[in-house]
Amino acid sequence: MDRIRIVGGQPLKGRIPISGAKNATLPLMIASLLTDEPLVLENVPRLADVALLQRILGNHGVDVMVGGKRPGDGEYDGQTLHISAKRIVDTTAPYDLVSRMRASFWVIAPLVARMGEAKVSLPGGCAIGTRPVDLLLMALRNLGAEIEIDGGYVLARAPHGLRGGEIVFPKVTVSGTHTALMGAVLAKGATVIENAACEPEIADVADCLVKMGARIKGAGTPRIEIEGVARLDGTRHRVLADRIETGTYAMAVAMTGGDVMLDGARPELLQAALDVLVEAGVEIAATNEGLRVQRNGAGIAPVTVTTAPFPGFPTDLQAQLMALMTRAKGTSRITETIFENRFMHVQELARFGADIRLDGETATIAGVPRLKGAPVMATDLRASVSLVIAALVAEGETLVNRVYHLDRGFERLEDKLSACGAEIERISG
Ligand code: UD1
Repeated sequence: MDRIRIVGGQPLKGRIPISGAKNATLPLMIASLLTDEPLVLENVPRLADVALLQRILGNHGVDVMVGGKRPGDGEYDGQTLHISAKRIVDTTAPYDLVSRMRASFWVIAPLVARMGEAKVSLPGGCAIGTRPVDLLLMALRNLGAEIEIDGGYVLARAPHGLRGGEIVFPKVTVSGTHTALMGAVLAKGATVIENAACEPEIADVADCLVKMGARIKGAGTPRIEIEGVARLDGTRHRVLADRIETGTYAMAVAMTGGDVMLDGARPELLQAALDVLVEAGVEIAATNEGLRVQRNGAGIAPVTVTTAPFPGFPTDLQAQLMALMTRAKGTSRITETIFENRFMHVQELARFGADIRLDGETATIAGVPRLKGAPVMATDLRASVSLVIAALVAEGETLVNRVYHLDRGFERLEDKLSACGAEIERISG
């Protein structure tokens, strides 16, 4: 298993190209199941989760071709996927695949919408909590699907197609909103989704669906209206920039000090996180190339933050912010409201000498003057990267184990950071 070795102490200086968003790419790839025509996705990040979803879609009979590099393409330019679900040969998503990536459960909506049936394994628990799918199933039921759970599988049936309906989510859910949207676009009649997730990745998927011929209004707001159509066409779509990767590198620069241009970043996708960084003493400037992040001389000021659905502070940046606050001049408080049990990084950050106290959903972080390198490991991808951020300023050497978590969500992290002066390398084996 690969490990990453980091020796802390270098400020980051240079440019980091921001990749396409993992959390938009996955549902966009899944949306290919809605049409028998080719869907071409550009700016797709090279990530383990993308490769795994290619395999999962392949199991349903989807052909995925990866476009080759073209003259003039930069080293970090995303890949282009040509996806064709001309014939769906299997409507079952088996346990051994779905259990490896929760988002693959989302194939259930396009499969039942287009094929009238789907049999998809329940994903099971994961490191950041129980993460149920009850609201996804509620959405499909409201669109007329019959749902049965048998032997660890969800069987969804709508032999005469889905029909429009009203879906009111009792809590904001990204997975539920994707499911409702992908079901409703091919349903007969009109659907209204209330209390929909407003995450930019939902709007990106909706943009692509509209190009495919779907009739959607209000994506990116809490109320989405959809008028079902009989079929969808293929299209070409460029995946939007990854706001979580952007925020992660911004926090890395905040931690080490220095001056980095995040090429292609879109500040409006993470304003809440940028506001917190400014409060912490980081200088941020939006330019037409992306986002410039600087911290020179001044220390890190403590902050009080609560995670919330978009446009609030994202749960996917909570671990990284906590790593940053371990070095603040004072005491910070971070409250996690989206996922239970999303504090697995706390014990690992303590191994660097961080002073963090947990009380229910709230972590109290007393900044310390120095961190010391240590062997560490993590159980999910955002937690793993928080350990990298701590290691970048820790005295001496850190070995981050279980690097496969990082590879799920960060494209060539060690290359991007070492190009900016970090002492970081991958050790294979
Ligand atoms: C997505 C993101 C993930 C991010 C999360 C919140 C992808 C691939 N993943 O995850 O990176 O951290 O949004 O921004 O896009 N819930 C239920 N019942 C359900 C569904 C969800 O109770 O049927 C709960 C969850 O347990 C959680 C909350 O709702 O507490 C939010 O989950 P959701 O927004 O659906 O997250 P994901 O789509 O799984």
